[in-house]
Amino acid sequence: MSDPLPINVADYESIAEAACEPGYWGYVVGGAGDEVTLRENVAAFRRRVLRPRMLVDVSDVSTRTTVLGSEIAMPLGIAPTSLQRVAHPEGEGALARAASDAGTVYTLSSLASVRPRQLAEAAPDVLRWFQLYWSRDRGFTSELVSEAADAGFTALVLTVDLPAAGPRERDLRSGFKLPPELLMPNLPRTLTETEYFHDTLGEIVDTSLTWRDLEWLASECSLPLVVKGVLTAEDAALACEHGCAGVVVSNHGGRQLDGVSATLDALPEVADTVAGRAEIYLDGGIRRGTDVAMALALGARAGFVGRPALWGLAAGGEAGAAHVLELFRGEIALALLLLGCPTPAEVGPEHVRLRA
Ligand SMILES: Cc1cc2nc3c(=O)[nH]c(=O)nc-3n(C[C@H](O)[C@H](O)[C@H](O)COP(=O)(O)O)c2cc1C
Repeated sequence: MSDPLPINVADYESIAEAACEPGYWGYVVGGAGDEVTLRENVAAFRRRVLRPRMLVDVSDVSTRTTVLGSEIAMPLGIAPTSLQRVAHPEGEGALARAASDAGTVYTLSSLASVRPRQLAEAAPDVLRWFQLYWSRDRGFTSELVSEAADAGFTALVLTVDLPAAGPRERDLRSGFKLPPELLMPNLPRTLTETEYFHDTLGEIVDTSLTWRDLEWLASECSLPLVVKGVLTAEDAALACEHGCAGVVVSNHGGRQLDGVSATLDALPEVADTVAGRAEIYLDGGIRRGTDVAMALALGARAGFVGRPALWGLAAGGEAGAAHVLELFRGEIALALLLLGCPTPAEVGPEHVRLRA
């Protein structure tokens, strides 16, 4: 890794780019179509300003909070991302250990190169959630979620915004394909070398699913269910009615339907509708501790990061990812202190407004 150490998360982006093969880099940073939503996710944080309060006792600030009853050191976790072993040979294990060191939650992707039990062996202490792509093969899905529960995963994160993969034009231009040596053991069939795996994913995922199918999932697996990819009040209401313990306001990092709103813009309507019936998390565009503070102000319990964690992993393996998380933790602590909020729970709607 570079010496001196990067001073902020954005510094890691260029270091990671230099460390990655160009096709894979395009896969990581790219979005769908014209990448309007990808840019919007970041821009939405810049459209708002924070409203700090002065002369509040901030002599004892804590970034600690809980997600689904488990304590974490800061209101920021790791979103599920595929192919971590392409970013770094130690892949998922390294990123999960970095999350463990940082005292936060790691979400294992269905497109990981390890099974849930292997991740648990590689990072036994990490608070871990499993992200599910629900395949047409129900027997396979049932086995996978049972294995996750047995391996100490404490929540199931069902990604609901991918009945087909979004158009990733950077990949079409670069011809990016799955490296032949990389396995995807959480998919029901082995991919061939020539397949662009996002096409295959569209064929594997069950496109007939509706909210009522969540009952089947609940009967197969006792873990609390978090739905990832909610952008509207209507779907937030359905998630609550179907017993979801959590909702991730997410547009898949701008990688699915281009032209949907930034996640921060969608957050208030979701928060109003959920009204405490489930926990709300947000991912997409978080690059600073102050971004996390804005998400908390608009109703999220915690944020999640996808690309920034991969930048750290690609730049320096476990140590790089751990440093990215440490930079975030420091910035979140300082943001709380300067906002006049000794804990994440004290950040509310009065702490943010739209830029004039
Ligand atoms: C390279 C990459 C791979 C991803 N893979 C998955 C995945 O396998 N499952 C999933 O639910 N989301 C996946 N996502 C979406 C992330 O979980 C998350 O929603 C998004 O990255 C958040 O935006 P950010 O990258 O701006 O933090 C992926 C995102 C990226 C950038």
